[in-house]
Amino acid sequence: MMGKHKSLPALLLLYSFGSSVMASTIVNMPLNVGTIKGLDRPSHGKFNPNFVPIRPSIFGLPRRHLFVVKASTNDGPIKKLGMSDAECEAAVVAGNIPEAPPVPPIPASPAGTPVVTSFDITRRPRRNRRSPVLRSAFQETSLSPANFVYPLFIHEGEEDTPIGAMPGCYRLGWRHGLLEEVAKARDVGVNSIVLFPKVPDALKTPTGDEAYNDNGLVPRTIQLLKDKYPDLIIYTDVALDPYSSDGHDGIVREDGVIMNDETVHQLCKQAVSQARAGADVVSPSDMMDGRVGAIRSALDAEGFQLVSIMSYTAKYASSFYGPFREALDSNPRFGDKKTYQMNPANYREAMIELRADESEGADILLVKPGLPYLDVIRLLRDNSPLPIAAYQVSGEYSMIKAGGVLKMIDERKVMLESLMCLRRAGADIILTYFALQAARCLCGEK
Ligand code: PBG
Repeated sequence: MMGKHKSLPALLLLYSFGSSVMASTIVNMPLNVGTIKGLDRPSHGKFNPNFVPIRPSIFGLPRRHLFVVKASTNDGPIKKLGMSDAECEAAVVAGNIPEAPPVPPIPASPAGTPVVTSFDITRRPRRNRRSPVLRSAFQETSLSPANFVYPLFIHEGEEDTPIGAMPGCYRLGWRHGLLEEVAKARDVGVNSIVLFPKVPDALKTPTGDEAYNDNGLVPRTIQLLKDKYPDLIIYTDVALDPYSSDGHDGIVREDGVIMNDETVHQLCKQAVSQARAGADVVSPSDMMDGRVGAIRSALDAEGFQLVSIMSYTAKYASSFYGPFREALDSNPRFGDKKTYQMNPANYREAMIELRADESEGADILLVKPGLPYLDVIRLLRDNSPLPIAAYQVSGEYSMIKAGGVLKMIDERKVMLESLMCLRRAGADIILTYFALQAARCLCGEK
């Protein structure tokens, strides 16, 4: 079919933006790309068969060469070599058959290769893997910068402070470094971020009231970002730990018990304060019971019906969060988080959380950590129609980085594979500190 365009009288390639479908339709065709994987994901640049690269532009139209395909062309065949179709047919009928190049010889095997009779098997799965074109045609899962949510650490300072345990990550100055990082991410198609604040110790209290200060770091940052990038999707973390003098996600009673309903009361105020500043998606990561329903009601009561809730449905009490807690200085001052975060040994229990979050009105269900919990991602994917998010957490990021720095693994390839595997397990979106680096790779940049 390809290459025969011109003989088709009315080839109409539809690629509609919004509701506008025109008689002449604009089609995006990358120059040096042999295969286009799905019209909604135009390929771009150097094509890597394993990933689908894109580079969106400000208008949603990919900035590539635009071809206008006319709806009707009826100008007859194009003469190239002098002979008409009838003359060519007549020549073949008369026995003057033009020569085709020879079929290539069967490649030689190395000396000593055993001579065997071929297996009499009908199923040889390797047939579908034998060339890059076939492999990319049959690829089941795709990875795109549109799937990424970029977690960013912010602080009150003007400088960007490197995070020792997370090479390549910084606590960004909310006024400068953050804006630059967001601009870089948007440039390669990552237009969703989630904010994590480093709060001065002096503002931390047992009840974490700074969490709902409308002039606090997070609301101020949201306002600044929305002012500069109105279409940026901003996710926020809803939990008390960055604001708690105890370093816990909830209010700690004298005897060490994390108080559930009282904490949820605070979380509702926190979510509303973030929504008021312009957050698009609030993400309770605290694992208190009943918080999704309570936050939904609180948001609705304040007129934020269109602010979404991404619930940390299955968040495990994991040691993979270590580097994050260093980044925010948010280690629990005593004890651990096992009375609210899930036991890493548990699978069925995720279904209890899933049912609660669905019935309470969650819009997105999240599994955390990511790679060690692929079974849980698949469990949620198969049991809910809601979008699923996976959080590739700080420890997962740092292990890949460390392996790369020590030259024990190929960092770039392992990064992309880990992200693809999270998608294959059933994640629609991935929160990953690799968002910018991976998106650059997918866009054909180094
Ligand atoms: C706390 C929170 C944590 C992370 C995100 N939100 C840490 C924790 O539960 O102690 C961890 C993210 C990461 O490790 O990358 N609300």
